[in-house]
Amino acid sequence: MKPVELKDGVYWVGAIDWDERDFHNFVTERGLTYNSYLIMDEKVTLVDTVKHKFVRQSMERIRKVVEPSEIEYIVVNHIEPDHSSGLPDTVKIAKDATIICTQRAKDGLCRYYDCDGWNFQVVKGGDELKIGRRTLMFVDMTMLHWPDSMATYVKEDRLLLSNDAFGQHIASGGRFDEDIGVDEALKWAKIYYANILMPLSGLIKKKLAEIQNLNLEIDMIAPSHGVVWRNPAKIIEAYSRWSNFESENKVVIVYDSMWHSTEAIARAIADGVESEGAEVRVFHVRKDHWTSIVTEILDARAVAVGSPTIHNGLFPTVAGFLTYLKGLKPQNKKGLAFGSYGWNGNGVKEVHRILEELKFEMLEPFMVKFRPTKEELEKAFEMGAELAK
Ligand code: FEO
Repeated sequence: MKPVELKDGVYWVGAIDWDERDFHNFVTERGLTYNSYLIMDEKVTLVDTVKHKFVRQSMERIRKVVEPSEIEYIVVNHIEPDHSSGLPDTVKIAKDATIICTQRAKDGLCRYYDCDGWNFQVVKGGDELKIGRRTLMFVDMTMLHWPDSMATYVKEDRLLLSNDAFGQHIASGGRFDEDIGVDEALKWAKIYYANILMPLSGLIKKKLAEIQNLNLEIDMIAPSHGVVWRNPAKIIEAYSRWSNFESENKVVIVYDSMWHSTEAIARAIADGVESEGAEVRVFHVRKDHWTSIVTEILDARAVAVGSPTIHNGLFPTVAGFLTYLKGLKPQNKKGLAFGSYGWNGNGVKEVHRILEELKFEMLEPFMVKFRPTKEELEKAFEMGAELAK
């Protein structure tokens, strides 16, 4: 049976990794895919390769359409090893192929691998390549999400091969958004956006406007992870919302606790939020995946972070989480730092300082000595209500 055909003569020849649960600390609870696309034209073209251990799987799919040695062009949209680590073995099979990539990608590939003897053709955004009846146009995607990144637009098929952009980390039997359900696909795309693309939201806004100005007709977007979008407007609209940090009436509370005092404050804040009718999500930073927590933070209007004080400072798990959060640069949030302490409240002060650095609009930090009293829990409730308002 031939592999799934996206368009007449354009095939998905990637790999499904059902087992992987960690993608450099991104929890992939449903596995992931490495998508690669084969375009059958006068010049047989492969767009993106797969992770090294899946080259055989990808080659088996290609072989059902054409002998892999007949591939003449290999487009490398992005060099991160989840895509490029399969390139050296692919080049050994498609010996005469020319690698099409940006200058930065070429430089990076030759740092990662021994590229001696590889044929390269360097391209930049706006360049076109005729491969027969089709024209490939390359779209500059610098820093979306690496300096080498680009996307490939197949003009005649109105197909955007977008690499990481618009991707999702989910393994599935179906190859299209409709196969798993468009809303389900959007759910996984949001997790991907929050954990990989959130800090690049400013650039993404500009890029969406740029793509709109190019007047590219796009009726399908095929990313390098997850399902293919037959409903491109849905994911483009979602990217517009996420990159603008459009928020919902939702408060996210994240905490850790040594002796249940910070936990009791977290619960009281949550009750206060609920009393105002806002949605509240409470996460224990040692029990919940950071991947899920930051996904909820992406579109939350307020975030409260609680830490006990230990060794005169932050509780280590909260420190780790805040380091992750800082890198992701969430915007347009209100914030609250809270927690308990024994003889100084430096842990809470540190949370406050870090959230201020993120330009969160902060309430006064809330801290209690040893154990919250009834009055202090009432105060925490009020602060939750204030956040929700
Ligand atoms: Fe899917 Fe940036 O690699």
